[in-house]
Amino acid sequence: MVDSQLKEEVSFSRESLDVYGDAHPKALLKNIQEEGDYLKLLESQHIVSSDQFEKNTLLQLFRLAAKYESNPERYSTPLKGKILISAFYEPSTRTRLSFESAWHRLGGDIMSITDRATTGIAKGESLADVAEMFNNYGDCVVLRDSSESSVQEMMGSLRIPIINAGNGIDEHPTQALADLYTIFKWKPELLKSELDESDRIRVGIVGVPNKMRTVRSLLKLFSFFPEIFEEVVIIHDGSSDSIFDEHQLEQLEDRGLNVRVSTQFNSSLPELDVIYINAIAWVGNDYQSFGESFILDANSPIKEDAIILHPLARGEELATELDETSHNWYFAQARGAVFLRMALLTCMCQRMERVMDVI
Ligand code: CP
Repeated sequence: MVDSQLKEEVSFSRESLDVYGDAHPKALLKNIQEEGDYLKLLESQHIVSSDQFEKNTLLQLFRLAAKYESNPERYSTPLKGKILISAFYEPSTRTRLSFESAWHRLGGDIMSITDRATTGIAKGESLADVAEMFNNYGDCVVLRDSSESSVQEMMGSLRIPIINAGNGIDEHPTQALADLYTIFKWKPELLKSELDESDRIRVGIVGVPNKMRTVRSLLKLFSFFPEIFEEVVIIHDGSSDSIFDEHQLEQLEDRGLNVRVSTQFNSSLPELDVIYINAIAWVGNDYQSFGESFILDANSPIKEDAIILHPLARGEELATELDETSHNWYFAQARGAVFLRMALLTCMCQRMERVMDVI
């Protein structure tokens, strides 16, 4: 006899995966005209910083990601014969696995290193020499390291592209790409050529821009689209001695982004269309918490149609009771990152022609 309680416990719903944050990516295809040549700019480029993109390249990347997400089974082999070197020298759940998932879904093969102590680095080998070896073994490198200089140290020797998957407190550009892709899927009308002032959005970033690499990279991407934001409010609790590096705010404002800083959490929430929250930053070989007193939960005064984004991993700042609400777009954000990374990898590895006919 099967225990009925056990039977209930072990059953799960596949549908619940798609309930929240499930705007159809096809809406993006309607609002972004295909101009595939802009994607050629990514061929054989290293991806180091959000600063390096062009607005039209970003739009075409989102378009290709939406194409993959709309019809994932259709594209299973563009990276056949290519090898990814996935080198993660700092903990990761989402970035490593979504990059590896993206590569597998495109038909490529992977070599994975999750501990630098298992490589020659433990014997004092330089990152430059390791990179020289990578040239012989793979076609693309994805690197996460707690040091800000690691990507630069490898780039000098690399003849294959490298993607910065998080370098200390500096940048995490592909996370930012996934974040902005989510915002455009949520509100594709933001991409209309004549956006009404009343349709612009107010975004709150709960975090510290000079210590959180996801926030630093996201603000840079926002600054390519200043016209869609009524305001970007940086909300922090004052526990960090500074929240911007020299010239960081100036660069965003010079590009036309309307940035305001606030230490008021609850009173800011009712004005926000998008709430992006993060509470940890990797500093050196450990993480630090910021804004622990800011907690989003079911009692927070959030607009009825506001969405919440979070790069994850989360802590106390984001209550799990919000998971079952329409505010939860953070799981969709993590899910969409696979398709965004599929699009990026296809372009970087010069396999665009294999998907062009169906773009
Ligand atoms: N968002 C993000 O970088 O998550 P991981 O640390 O799990 O990769």
